Amino acid sequence: MGTMPAQPPTDAARPRILSGMQPTSDSLHLGNYLGALVNWVGLQEDFDAYYFVADLHALTVPTDPEVLRRRTRVTAAQFIAGGVDPERSAVFCQSHVTAHAELGWVMNCLTAFGEASRMTQFKDKTAKGQNANVGLFTYPMLMAADILMYDAAYVPVGEDQRQHLEITRDLAERFNTRFGPTLAVPEPYILKESAKIMELTDPTSKMSGTNSPDKGLLLLSDEPNRLRKKIMSAVTDTETEIRYDPETKAGVSNLLVIHSVLTGTPVTDLEAQFAGRGYGDLKKAVAEVVLEAVGPFRSRMAELLDDPAELDRILARGAERAAVVAAATMTRVRDAVGLLPAAR
Ligand code: TRP
Repeated sequence: MGTMPAQPPTDAARPRILSGMQPTSDSLHLGNYLGALVNWVGLQEDFDAYYFVADLHALTVPTDPEVLRRRTRVTAAQFIAGGVDPERSAVFCQSHVTAHAELGWVMNCLTAFGEASRMTQFKDKTAKGQNANVGLFTYPMLMAADILMYDAAYVPVGEDQRQHLEITRDLAERFNTRFGPTLAVPEPYILKESAKIMELTDPTSKMSGTNSPDKGLLLLSDEPNRLRKKIMSAVTDTETEIRYDPETKAGVSNLLVIHSVLTGTPVTDLEAQFAGRGYGDLKKAVAEVVLEAVGPFRSRMAELLDDPAELDRILARGAERAAVVAAATMTRVRDAVGLLPAAR
């Protein structure tokens, strides 16, 4: 047996975290922004953060190459426009660190066929009659590779990714049991759904880039007038009282939540502030608050997308940083599983 290379030193004061987003749309909506990106930004303070665009994962859904390229840049630009600081956190494209695909293969070879078949995302997508490719089937193992590559202590993701984190932990433990301690086992860090933003047209459904109609979505790329129009025509109810009650007043409650999250005002304070006033007033106020938040984001996006060469340089620097960590992990992994080192 070869000697076990030492684990890379982990900075105890700033543990490493990692998260990714697929480049599957031309714009984030307010729900993604408040649900994920705002958290990513905040976590940069206390963690050594790695944030990447999961472009290899996006290939599991057939996409026009030009569209994929555009969305990859847009997604990276959104991270930065939303406040991820590429000087501090590594911002990169998954495909730029080719070791992800290699470690993904090793993970495939550790996963039982039945285990992969039980993943709910795959089952849901194939049940809907989606003509699945093998990439969709092995999606969770590539995601495990993304995470295990960086010895991530935590992986901030939404509730929908919980099963993916569980299989990642299982695979890390299985690897370590079979081949000796090599990979760090990450802790899940499920982001709170405190800011669950609903569709404006059907406030009982979650705002979703892939399922909501355009009128129900507040896109960060929308013109201010468009945002205002969408908010002013948001579905409410036939009462007149402005009160938080997601069961019977889903529309009004959603507007209160949007206002509350963006301004940091507790919902009860807003209820008091709007007591005796009409839904029109609430909508106007929400529109103001949304426009104020989205304005600076949009101008920063425009700047970044105006200079794609600079954006590509930022991504290249991020990939360089990531590749250093990835190379060290792959040396440990190759040695552990018994791949013969290439002679120099
Ligand atoms: N599956 C994640 C999503 O759809 C994206 C993703 C890919 C990811 N690799 C990851 C998230 C690694 C966290 C860590 O949202």
